[in-house]
Amino acid sequence: MTDPIGTMRRTHHCCELRAENVGEEVVLMDWIQRRRDHGGVIFVDLRDREGLTQVVFNPEVSPEVHEKAHVLRGEYVIGVRGKVERRLEGMANPKLATGDIEVFATELRIFNAAMTPAFPIEDNVDVSENIRLQYRHLDLRRPQIQKNIIRRHRAAEVIRNYLNGQGFLDIETPFLTRSTPEGARDYLVPSRVNPGHFYALPQSPQLFKQLLMIAGYDRYYQIVRCFRDEDLRADRQPEFTQVDLEMSFVGEEDVMSVAEEMMQRLFQELLDRRMEIPFPRLTYAEAVDRFGLDKPDTRFGLELSDISDIVADAGFKVFASVVAKGGIVKALNAKGCSDFTRKEIDDLADFVAVYRAKGLAWIKVREDGWQSPIAKFFSVEEKAALSERIDMSPGDLVFFVADRPEVANESLGQLRNHLGRRLGLIESGTFQFVWITEFPLLEYDENERRYQALHHPFTAPVEEDLHLLEKDPTRVRSRAYDLVLNGSEIGGGSIRVHRTDLQKRLFAALGMEQESYMEKFGFLLNALESGAPPHGGIAFGLDRLVMILCGQASIRDVIAFPKTQKAACLLTEAPSEAGKAQLEELSIRVRKPLA
Ligand code: AMO
Ligand code: AMP
Repeated sequence: MTDPIGTMRRTHHCCELRAENVGEEVVLMDWIQRRRDHGGVIFVDLRDREGLTQVVFNPEVSPEVHEKAHVLRGEYVIGVRGKVERRLEGMANPKLATGDIEVFATELRIFNAAMTPAFPIEDNVDVSENIRLQYRHLDLRRPQIQKNIIRRHRAAEVIRNYLNGQGFLDIETPFLTRSTPEGARDYLVPSRVNPGHFYALPQSPQLFKQLLMIAGYDRYYQIVRCFRDEDLRADRQPEFTQVDLEMSFVGEEDVMSVAEEMMQRLFQELLDRRMEIPFPRLTYAEAVDRFGLDKPDTRFGLELSDISDIVADAGFKVFASVVAKGGIVKALNAKGCSDFTRKEIDDLADFVAVYRAKGLAWIKVREDGWQSPIAKFFSVEEKAALSERIDMSPGDLVFFVADRPEVANESLGQLRNHLGRRLGLIESGTFQFVWITEFPLLEYDENERRYQALHHPFTAPVEEDLHLLEKDPTRVRSRAYDLVLNGSEIGGGSIRVHRTDLQKRLFAALGMEQESYMEKFGFLLNALESGAPPHGGIAFGLDRLVMILCGQASIRDVIAFPKTQKAACLLTEAPSEAGKAQLEELSIRVRKPLA
């Protein structure tokens, strides 16, 4: 076999040629973005992962090479030797970094032809995401995705440099392990040598990083894949990447300040932005009260008001009865939106219904009074009180949801984000971090009829609330903190339980029998008894963080090989069926789902 590159060796990347290179002989090896035949002279734009250069095949420079260039098409992979020339007066392309020059070809090698691609290799092409994912190797050639993937690399580099400088050790933890409860379903892996036994892929390295603290490693980090079998959304993937860290002998402030400095470094180095630290903080209760969500987008106003006290005795039975049953009524004042049509309001009612709201009441505020199907139910005093609480003025459109607190808050919180985008209240290119603190330690799960950890069961409670753990569990606050950026939860962590007695008490509060927690977490309890330092940490969702740093709307655009909403890889067609012999070996019998 002859060496296809032969004596040719690349001298430059095509994106890096500039006016200084004029007169040099260069060798470029890249992909053809496009070819134009201008009767006599052939122009080819060569593309590498960062840019384009124009190559000219001129019969006067080399008739053979010009002749050979006739077969070239988009996505062919070629090698070109040639001389860098300054473009003629008026022919420079200021939009290209290499726009002052062009390369006159004296030698051409065609390494490979290419079929016409399934879609043009350009940004903003009108092609479905499924086709893009099916031909991801082509999609990854598009400039925007290239920028994203390169920026992701840079982000990981800055993070590693920062943490290495702070004395953190990068330590790997296993993927074939036991279930770590982070609230999602596990991906199971069958064990061939232990028939009927399964590993769980880690939802996070939570227990291993705690064990590393107990083992004395003091400061740990890892940029690590995590696996969660949950319903997918634009910001969720079944496998995603965490920047995971843990520290010994720390309190909340120590972990939060490492996180803040790391974020500051990242924004400085990637976007040349100076972010002020410390970041603002909101308690969970305040975030939910004002914004409806525990991951508030603080880039715009439109805050919610609780009007339960005002409407508790009002003639509008829907509101009064919800309050009587322990629910709440909340309002969102869409300032200046009183010209919304009935159809638009109905669409918003459909929007909140997705978040289980049973209705969306509304009032349009006019100069001459309220226009609303529910206006007639309120007394003059109640109207005055509502006007003041909700800050109503002519031109406003106020929305109401009456329901259980979770539903009223979530549905209006989501409506707030929706309106914030739709009304253009969010200035593009702005970034707002906020810490959320003082989460409840536990929440009651109606379906399972038991308490569940809001974060995970290793999160320490606030000491002064501990006496409530058995009496009034949902009032116990935890020592957890989440970092929110532009309304997206990009990180979460906590100070951990480091005493066996307390950890056992927490397992019991979660409704676990001793036998059950000893079986699942005996190794942790054992370790906690062997000299465990106070410790805490945090994990950031790298995909979400990079998505925001790249201004993208989906984490799929910052992951080289992402999965679809149905957790499938369209490129490799995973998941797929397993062969009979393989299943046999794993002692697994598959029951086909009923058609
Ligand atoms: P948590 O479960 O909050 O904490 O996860 C940390 C961060 O990971 C990101 N994240 C995801 N990103 C993409 N797709 C997903 N399916 C997904 N799930 C989570 C989020 C989230 O804030 N062990 C604890 C951390 C700790 O206590 O130190 C943990 O995993 O950005
Ligand atoms: P109804 O009396 O059921 O016709 O409802 C009158 C108005 O109240 C309609 O605009 C409904 O969408 C709204 N509505 C009904 N239930 C609720 C609720 N739980 N919260 C807010 N608005 C509601």
